[in-house]
Amino acid sequence: WGHMGGLAGGALAALLLGPRWKQTTLPTARGRWLVDAAPVPWLRSSPKPLDGGRGRLRDSPQWRALQEHVQAIKQTQLKDLLQEEARTDGLIREAGGLYMDFSRQNATPDTLKLLLELAEAADLRGKVDALFSGKHINSTEDRAVLHPALRAPRDAVIEDAGKNVVPEVWAVLDKIKAFTERVRGGEWKGVTGKPLTNVVSIGIGGSALGPLFVHTALSTEPEAMSQAAGRSLVFLANVDPVDAVRALHGLDAERTLVVIVSKTFTTAETMLNARTVRAWLTERLGPEAVAKHMVAVSTNLKAVAEFGIDPENAFGFWDWVGGRFSVSSAVGMVPLSLHYSFPVMERFLQGMRAMDDHFRSAPLHDNLPALLGLLNVWNSTFLGHSTTAILPYQQALQHFAPHIQQLSMESNGKGVAIDGTRLPYETGEIDFGEPGTNGQHSFYQLIHQGRVIPAEFIGVARSQQDVYLQGEKVSSHEELMCNFFAQPDALAMGKDAATLRAEGVPEHLVPHKTFTGNRPSLSILLPELNAFTLGQLLSLYEHRIATSGFVWGINSFDQWGVELGKVLANKVRAKVQEARSANCPLSAADGFCPSTVRLLNRFLQQGQT
Ligand code: F6P
Repeated sequence: WGHMGGLAGGALAALLLGPRWKQTTLPTARGRWLVDAAPVPWLRSSPKPLDGGRGRLRDSPQWRALQEHVQAIKQTQLKDLLQEEARTDGLIREAGGLYMDFSRQNATPDTLKLLLELAEAADLRGKVDALFSGKHINSTEDRAVLHPALRAPRDAVIEDAGKNVVPEVWAVLDKIKAFTERVRGGEWKGVTGKPLTNVVSIGIGGSALGPLFVHTALSTEPEAMSQAAGRSLVFLANVDPVDAVRALHGLDAERTLVVIVSKTFTTAETMLNARTVRAWLTERLGPEAVAKHMVAVSTNLKAVAEFGIDPENAFGFWDWVGGRFSVSSAVGMVPLSLHYSFPVMERFLQGMRAMDDHFRSAPLHDNLPALLGLLNVWNSTFLGHSTTAILPYQQALQHFAPHIQQLSMESNGKGVAIDGTRLPYETGEIDFGEPGTNGQHSFYQLIHQGRVIPAEFIGVARSQQDVYLQGEKVSSHEELMCNFFAQPDALAMGKDAATLRAEGVPEHLVPHKTFTGNRPSLSILLPELNAFTLGQLLSLYEHRIATSGFVWGINSFDQWGVELGKVLANKVRAKVQEARSANCPLSAADGFCPSTVRLLNRFLQQGQT
């Protein structure tokens, strides 16, 4: 592609192979999945190698065109651009009830055109096709990346190595449905004959953050709330003993079901917490409690059995589901269906599926996740903004930003291209966030007058809950949303010195009260926050992150960067235990640098008291 110029992949393939849709209508295994969404003009077997993007995309004319375009954009001001009706129209999209306005990006329709050309050069469509068709795009682990199969319809055909994975997905879903109904209906009881109304979900990272985010978002949604009446769900993630104490505080073991969630079933923190909670249960209820009070979610059913849990009480998933993409697998479905019921969670899966279908079939120009991912590349790589603020104006989305942190930073924080060559640009961005308006009273000072941080505002038109005072509805939601609309304009428009002077602001305060403006944001508006729209939102971000990774030419689906620290922790653990049992301080001979030796000895000394 590097030598083909602007029209490269798409136009050339069309010339050589005819219109793309002709290839996709073949009755291939995955064809049945395409039926409802047809015609899907771009879904095709990629004629290019899967690693076609690579860091060398930087040498392409499309990349250079965007670099030159940066200079043009730097001459613009959002306060002027935002007056243009036609530009506004060109930078708003809507799909499946989700309204996305990116007119407050430092961008014009030309930017969009150039980004779409870059997407073409990076073979974005081919890579999306490869993802949905089960190619082993996680090349460093030789794995497919098939999380969309977790929410595919029962009759879909999606293959990994020639085998349709959908029947297995539905076998597990059926098992989850049956099990959670038995528990919720009181048919599955604890060892003392009491119904199990409390759930403790033990897991960390992708085995906790996503389910916790969904749990928080549904906990105030009326339908989900009514399904959860009389039940409790807590997550235990950290190996800090304080987290175990917090999670178990006030729980009645006789009524508690523990779900151990770990893809590998080897994660040190999770396994230690699992052993702790197993001891907590068996001390109170005897060894037979494990069979009734502990179940597992894992890809490693052998390790589950070794832990003492009957594989019959385990819910499997597959190595083609990345931990951070596993919310829609048994990882999220078991604890959340126990709490909210399977039908509620099925609507969540349907919402995800709706966004998957959109991502798969909508032209890139109108494709919400693709556009979000491309704008992300624009902000981070071309404009040099290394941070993104995720700002939901919805307390129920309190744990959205922490989940996106893992999803995005573990996926796209990479230093090399998919072929192992060092990247000539930085990938990924630092994601952080907090619900509005809380964040306004915390870090917004910096995003208004300090560093430029592209912000993603997420609002919801109808509140999950209303508050009444003496029979009158309190306007809290209106108040919240007024801020949701005001903040993006404050960031974009700013406030200049002349305006301040005209308002009579004393001269010495003018610089302090000036807002430079021209700060980018985008706004996403959902009609309401329920299980379905929550699924749409999550899938939107999953695919947005994959899009950026595809364009950067990296493998967004491995996470080797988390290994080194884990290995070093093993060495520290062994040495600390050795020093404790020998009652002798560590020295340089233990193989740590002088700083670590001093820190460890201080810990050994102070930790003994
Ligand atoms: O440390 C990172 C990680 O491997 C994540 O990718 C994963 O979500 C988490 O640990 C938990 O892993 P597991 O589900 O195997 O316990």
